[in-house]
Amino acid sequence: MKKILFVASEGVPFIKTGGLADVVGSLPKCFDKENYDVRVILPKYMCMRQEWKDKMNYLTHFYMDLSWRSQYVGILEMQYDGVQFYFIDNEYYFSGPKPYGNIYQDVEKFAFFSKAALSALPVIGFKPDIIHCHDWQTGLVPVFLKDKFHENEFFRDIRSVISIHNLKFQGVWDVKTIQDITGLDKSYFAPDKLEAYGDANYLKGGIVYADRITTVSKTYAEEIQTPFYGERLDGLMRARNNCLTGIVNGIDYDEYNPATDSFVEKNYDIKSFRKEKVKNKKALQKELGLDQDDRKFLIGIVSRLTDQKGFDLIAYMMDEMCQQDLQFVVLGTGEERYENMFRHFAWKYQGKVAANIYYSEAMSHKIYASCDAFLMPSLFEPCGLSQLMSLRYGTIPIVRETGGLKDTVEPYNEYKATGTGFSFANYNAHEMLYTIKYAMDVFYNHKRDWNKMVERAMKKDFSWNTSAREYEKLYESMLEEQ
Ligand code: ADP
Ligand code: GLC
Repeated sequence: MKKILFVASEGVPFIKTGGLADVVGSLPKCFDKENYDVRVILPKYMCMRQEWKDKMNYLTHFYMDLSWRSQYVGILEMQYDGVQFYFIDNEYYFSGPKPYGNIYQDVEKFAFFSKAALSALPVIGFKPDIIHCHDWQTGLVPVFLKDKFHENEFFRDIRSVISIHNLKFQGVWDVKTIQDITGLDKSYFAPDKLEAYGDANYLKGGIVYADRITTVSKTYAEEIQTPFYGERLDGLMRARNNCLTGIVNGIDYDEYNPATDSFVEKNYDIKSFRKEKVKNKKALQKELGLDQDDRKFLIGIVSRLTDQKGFDLIAYMMDEMCQQDLQFVVLGTGEERYENMFRHFAWKYQGKVAANIYYSEAMSHKIYASCDAFLMPSLFEPCGLSQLMSLRYGTIPIVRETGGLKDTVEPYNEYKATGTGFSFANYNAHEMLYTIKYAMDVFYNHKRDWNKMVERAMKKDFSWNTSAREYEKLYESMLEEQ
């Protein structure tokens, strides 16, 4: 039995701010149970729903040194969906209304979490063969592991892999403070280790010290080795590229299933979508005060409202797009200027634009199920899960060809009758508009072709089946080296 430990800052159903949580919550249960014991360790945030906190069982607690501080580490546990979860409790670090606050607090919080996750292992009696870290929040795990923990027999042959879900966020703060927080020796803060451009960088530490590095699509694995996508670490990514693999994300096919989804008005599948899917559109139009016309081309957006997702292109084109024969429904929170932009357009184009500036699992499912198309013109996209959810619900993605979007959405070819969506190459508002108009033309004037595309989209398999096997292969290759 191979033992794997996921260490992460979020995971569904317990806590989620983005796609990372979907991955951490849904991938562990997809490993071959005969050969893999995969467990997950997360912080116990005060802002988790009471329902989850009530279900956690207290295991034990101890005190841990973090540099000159001595901190309480509580350990709770829970079995969920066949997976063993552990939660690190510390009210000083994990209170607050959201998992992440200001970066100064966060760098200390996740230094604590990373060290606590390692320190907890002998106490709970779980010795993983491989620790699988995710994003900058756990970047110090491979560093601590090779530092003092290495001196301890228990930790000596534990290997580590770090997955980059978004290279933009690196956990950067000044060297002096980070040295004080972590208690790591001065020698760690050199340009070939944790230091980057004068500051301490958690993600860089993880990338340097982990035995393997993965990211969430093949294209992003290539892109991050170039200056445009490399977020100033492209040189490091090139230097480590023999240890870097891209493994595309999957989604939970039970959670996101149009045939059984309890959030949607009318369930449907690949056979019944022609008749049934449109009923969801009608219901959503009614619920959100859009003009009730089930023949209208309805475009959905479910997203963090940030530059990454291409909202400056949308802002630039919104007026012009609203002159078209279509409707928009947006669900998202984020940068104020984009929140206000959508509120403004919902006011200006009543009946045509619905702005839902909040977070809602239920509403997201309704949008995936009800819309004709889903817009995601990202500037960069490590993988993207929303387009996979859209495909699953037969909602045609309109995307920019970058990262995981390029790898998962096959562009429509009207001559060969192939493809599952529409895409454009350059980060350019007019290319986006042109692509939307092309999609509209197929929708309004070639309905049979459109429906065939919906069928192809729904037939695609972006469950974890394939990618979980790729992670297993990666783990195996790591263990063979020992
Ligand atoms: P990222 O992780 O970069 O935000 P992904 O596409 O990988 O992008 O994952 C986003 C996840 O968050 C999806 O599950 C999506 O449905 C969900 N999501 C984003 N915004 C909202 C929202 N306002 N309400 C509900 N779900 C949301
Ligand atoms: C990040 C990326 C997104 C990816 C998700 C899960 O949030 O922005 O593209 O799908 O992580 O890996």
